[in-house]
Amino acid sequence: MKNILSPSILAADFKELGDAIKKTEENGAQYLHFDVMDGMFVPSISFGLPVLQSVRAGTKQVLDVHLMITEPIRYVKDFASAGADLITVHLEACEDVDATLEAIRAQNIKAGLSIKPGTKVEELVPYLDKIDMVLVMSVEPGFGGQKFITETLDKTRAVRKMANDAGLSLDIEMDGGIYRSNVKEVLKAGANVVVSGSDVFQGDIAQNTAAFMEILGSYE
Ligand code: DX5
Ligand code: ZN
Repeated sequence: MKNILSPSILAADFKELGDAIKKTEENGAQYLHFDVMDGMFVPSISFGLPVLQSVRAGTKQVLDVHLMITEPIRYVKDFASAGADLITVHLEACEDVDATLEAIRAQNIKAGLSIKPGTKVEELVPYLDKIDMVLVMSVEPGFGGQKFITETLDKTRAVRKMANDAGLSLDIEMDGGIYRSNVKEVLKAGANVVVSGSDVFQGDIAQNTAAFMEILGSYE
């Protein structure tokens, strides 16, 4: 499985968003991570459909939309129409997880299911064969720039084992507090999709992205 970098634009300078995204695309980041926050499921409010439409027009990267919103089934169609290639919802935010995953699939795009640090991996079991990706949060969702919660590595190891035991070729994404300095731990634990916001968009974006891709490529 190829390792994938998914830069989180939440950490970008929004007055230079187009250039910032271009630098990640030119330096190999296959995905772009789009953190939608509603101020209900998480304390922050970030951005939504109009921004996704503009971003869609400006990049060929896979748009990896992370919905940190209450009852996401309400907006699945809209985010798919606005350009999402992959929609990840939080298990903790769905009244009916199966119905929500079906709604994503009905849009012919990939479905992801995310769990917060305090949610047990066992809760994913009923859905593993209905998704393309598990997102194991390595911070409490809601803010960029937080510290990586090391204990979440055990969860990623457990999910990778569950997937292997079930013969499922699941992508596993980790998200939050991931830097070039700790990304090897994330890959070793079995994640193959890495989200990073601060350590991509702060400083030299092109150089940061290229350095991340170097590490991901050397750890296949
Ligand atoms: C947090 C978001 C993350 C965050 C990552 O709720 O889901 O994607 O933006 O940003 P960093 O890499 O700065 O922790
Ligand atoms: Zn995210």
